[in-house]
Amino acid sequence: MSAEKQTDPQRMEKIVSLCKRRGFIFQSGEIYGGLNGVWDYGPLGTELKRNLKDYWWRVMVRERDDVVGLDGSILTHRAVLKASGHEDTFSDPMLECDICKRRFRADQLPTETTVVSNFAINFVNDAEESVGTASISAGGSSADDSKRKAKIQIGYVKPAAATHYISSWLETDIDTAQRTSCVECGAELRDPRQFNLMFRTNMGATQDESSVAYLRPETAQSIFTQFKNVLDTARKKIPFGIAQIGKAFRNEINPRNYIFRSREFEQMELEYFCAPDQGMELLDYWLEERLRFYENIGIPREKLHVLTVPDADRAFYSKGTYDIEYEFPFGVQELEGVAYRTDYDLTQHQNASGKPLEYFDEETKQKFVPHVVEPSAGVDRTLLALICEAYAEETVTDEKGKSETRTVMRFHPRMAPIKVGVFPLLKNKPELVAKAREVHALLKPHMMTFYDEAGAIGRRYRRQDEAGTPFGVTIDFETLGERGDELRDTVTLRHRDSMQQERVAISELLGMLLPQIR
Ligand code: GAP
Repeated sequence: MSAEKQTDPQRMEKIVSLCKRRGFIFQSGEIYGGLNGVWDYGPLGTELKRNLKDYWWRVMVRERDDVVGLDGSILTHRAVLKASGHEDTFSDPMLECDICKRRFRADQLPTETTVVSNFAINFVNDAEESVGTASISAGGSSADDSKRKAKIQIGYVKPAAATHYISSWLETDIDTAQRTSCVECGAELRDPRQFNLMFRTNMGATQDESSVAYLRPETAQSIFTQFKNVLDTARKKIPFGIAQIGKAFRNEINPRNYIFRSREFEQMELEYFCAPDQGMELLDYWLEERLRFYENIGIPREKLHVLTVPDADRAFYSKGTYDIEYEFPFGVQELEGVAYRTDYDLTQHQNASGKPLEYFDEETKQKFVPHVVEPSAGVDRTLLALICEAYAEETVTDEKGKSETRTVMRFHPRMAPIKVGVFPLLKNKPELVAKAREVHALLKPHMMTFYDEAGAIGRRYRRQDEAGTPFGVTIDFETLGERGDELRDTVTLRHRDSMQQERVAISELLGMLLPQIR
């Protein structure tokens, strides 16, 4: 973590509750008690996720001439993950409690702080004459000085001539160490062992070592193994990239922080192949591109942190890695890694498969194994960042002077699950309903809309505020021409964030909304 920030568990609780209440995210298998670390996305979450992935695909693939797409399989040949190093080394250190069987990732066990205070004791008689001295340490996990001071009273042997003692503070040692006991039941934990994070399965009827396959732990590997096929068919010259969005699976020891660390998740990965001397420059180029992406989906730059991963924490083959982090309510945590992976991956697959994965440069007449820069983002983590960033509570006062709290999801219109709510002012006025349905039919083919005629108009606006819908279109008596001909076929357009309203001609609605949601 590059920056220490205050965490806000209360805010997180409210966000989780809204996500369930409004249909963004549900726990998988909830009616059977839930499946740990696995999530289902509800109607609003599905739209939000689709918008995020579509925008990534648009800027990373469609709007570029140097990137093409791939949709690789999830079931992965064992040899692929052997060559990539995953079968042998894709593991986390795990501790298991012998008593309650809870499992912990060794590097995520909380630390324990022990405070040890040292006192000098002067034993005195009634005349306050010294009759002996001692020094005493009082320790414990309490940071409360008075409690520790009380402990010294039982920590000494009083000389017979002494009637009381006078203590003076020497020093305090603060020792912070990783816990070695179970967080759940307190039992001592044994030394950690390596736990491989891949989900293993068997393909076909034979259930033995010969049929072992894996669910992919990252989307990247099919890009490397299909590099030659893509190169031959897409006719691209280096530098060029292959992009993929898809599911990945990791048997995380401790899935946590809602959808942040789960066992089934999606990645948006680009492998950008280049010549060996282009790697470092492209690493910085892609970092900037990716930061711009986050800003363009509504995550401000000041909430993003770039961590230059230190040599000791970087994969041995990487010449440089950045983590892009976001200020989540539970702390500053990684959204994406941007890594210069050198020619490690293609070389590994070339050596293991015996198939050449080299590139021939027509201009320099040189043959080489391409190097690769990889921006690798998590869909679910970015979606969580979007939700956390959007969540806002504010006090609003209506025209009668009554104040209330408005919960509003301030999604960037480009990301918002529903772009526009369409409301007839009254549901029992057939002309209003017919016109509203007409407007709805006009907008529907172009954007996600929501038609709502139930309840007071203010309550309908609030419901859409909570869903994060940036625009509301109300069909009222002015629309029908009942307040004069100049307002006929105009609607009230309400803006979610400012709550400002304006009159817009129905014929101009599409032209006005489309550029804002693209
Ligand atoms: N191909 C490189 C790679 O997979 P990674 O840092 O292990 O690198 C890339 O993963 C991104 O995938 C992370 O930055 C994160 O956004 C996402 N990710 C990784 N593990 C995840 C998990 N258990 N749950 C949700 N997202 C995860």
